Amino acid sequence: MTTKTVSELLTQDVTLQQVSVKGWVRTFRANRFIALNDGSTINNIQCVVDFENFDEALLKRITTGAALHINGELVESQGKGQKVEIVVSTIEVLGDSDAETYPIQPKKHSFEFLRENAHLRTRTNTFSAVMRIKSTLSFAVHKYFTENGFYNMHTPMITGSDAEGAGEMFRITTLDAKNPPLDENGDVDFKQDFFGKEANLTVSGQLEAETYAMSLGKVYTFGPTFRAENSNTSRHLAEFWMIEPEVAFMDLAGNMDLAEDFIKSVISYLLEHNQEDLKFLDERLFNEEKSKPQAERSEMRLIEKLKFVTDNNFKRVSYTEAIDILRNSKPNKKKKFKYLINEWGADLQSEHERFLVEKHFKCPVILFDYPANIKAFYMRLNDDEKTVRAMDVLFPGIGEIIGGSQREERLDILKEKMAALDIPEEELWWYLDLRKYGTAVHSGFGLGFERLVMFATGMGNIRDVIPYPRTPQNAEF
Ligand code: 4AD
Ligand code: MG
Repeated sequence: MTTKTVSELLTQDVTLQQVSVKGWVRTFRANRFIALNDGSTINNIQCVVDFENFDEALLKRITTGAALHINGELVESQGKGQKVEIVVSTIEVLGDSDAETYPIQPKKHSFEFLRENAHLRTRTNTFSAVMRIKSTLSFAVHKYFTENGFYNMHTPMITGSDAEGAGEMFRITTLDAKNPPLDENGDVDFKQDFFGKEANLTVSGQLEAETYAMSLGKVYTFGPTFRAENSNTSRHLAEFWMIEPEVAFMDLAGNMDLAEDFIKSVISYLLEHNQEDLKFLDERLFNEEKSKPQAERSEMRLIEKLKFVTDNNFKRVSYTEAIDILRNSKPNKKKKFKYLINEWGADLQSEHERFLVEKHFKCPVILFDYPANIKAFYMRLNDDEKTVRAMDVLFPGIGEIIGGSQREERLDILKEKMAALDIPEEELWWYLDLRKYGTAVHSGFGLGFERLVMFATGMGNIRDVIPYPRTPQNAEF
């Protein structure tokens, strides 16, 4: 008899058939009802044991967390809450679980506690739902780009260049710590880190993606990126996955259209395919909200929030307009932001981004045309010579979910900008070549995948949407 997944069994027509299933015990009630879960669905299959037919020694081994192989008859359930159940004929304990020490007890655990048990937390409903949703979103990303004529590209993780110019790179080294090469001042020469050259973990695959866009037309990357910024927030990781499309002959307006269409498409796909998981999280988070003071409660439920994104246009607002709004706004009871926006040119903090999205426009917002001096060197300078064709997509509860731009395609202006920022031309000679040989308008963006998963699941901390989070405080497992 072939073993079926719980998901298959629960959607099966009942024709009184013999079935076989393997999974982990969630609970064993009254020496009679085993709730078995195998990760294929949020739901458990109820396995009904007639204890008189089984050894007591065997029944004692059916503890929360134990791995079982069960054979039995699939029948219509008499009880409420499930359509079918298994009347058990044989039980094989594949792996025992010591109920005393098993960390995942059949009760509600705090997310903090579960973070310390990250290797077991996907045995809970919340975390298995989050990770199934993440997997669906990952597939939806590849589906969207494949169906829209993009080629997938793997960009290097070891690189000499700092794509964002923010100096937030992890250095990697092959140096002999006891006998390092020295520079002319007698200091360790980190420029020789990687077999005689400088090397870091990539912060973004964008520059390499640009090279492929300028030959293959439409490409995207979806891979790990690394940031050595010391931010201990609920939205920052030292290692996260980024999705970066890059398109030749597309300007900033096209980039905004692409970003909006892409996000809507993957969220729609999720709504169509993970209803049970979304419903579970929707209910769980709603109950959690009820314990918060009224003023802090989210105005929308999870599924409502997702539908709101798929059904409404994102509001497009220039940086200059946004600054005017922020200057004239009273965000809270104290009527002040923590960081006051006094003048044009200031960088927005997440409190400003969230105010615009959550309180002012009450919808996703695309901010564009930022001051040149707060954005990266590669962004296309506007005719005003003060702003660049940058865009940030801001989401409720998240703030910045996407950062992107039209790229500077003019060789002389790019060189000027690099010189002003002390970026040596030798380091990016290949990047400059793109502007020398057949240059063209092109654009792209980066979406932080874990931030998308946070939005899609309603989880409040980025550490809870990646299996093993790497942060300044935490790199266990
Ligand atoms: O805005 P960022 O830094 O843009 C870039 O890296 C561009 N090169 C992308 C491009 O145009 N191809 O990062 C892009 C997105 C952010 O909007 C955010 O969603 C996410 O990456 N992100 C992070 N996510 C988690 N932890 C961090 N430390 C993140 N830093 C950025
Ligand atoms: Mg950014």
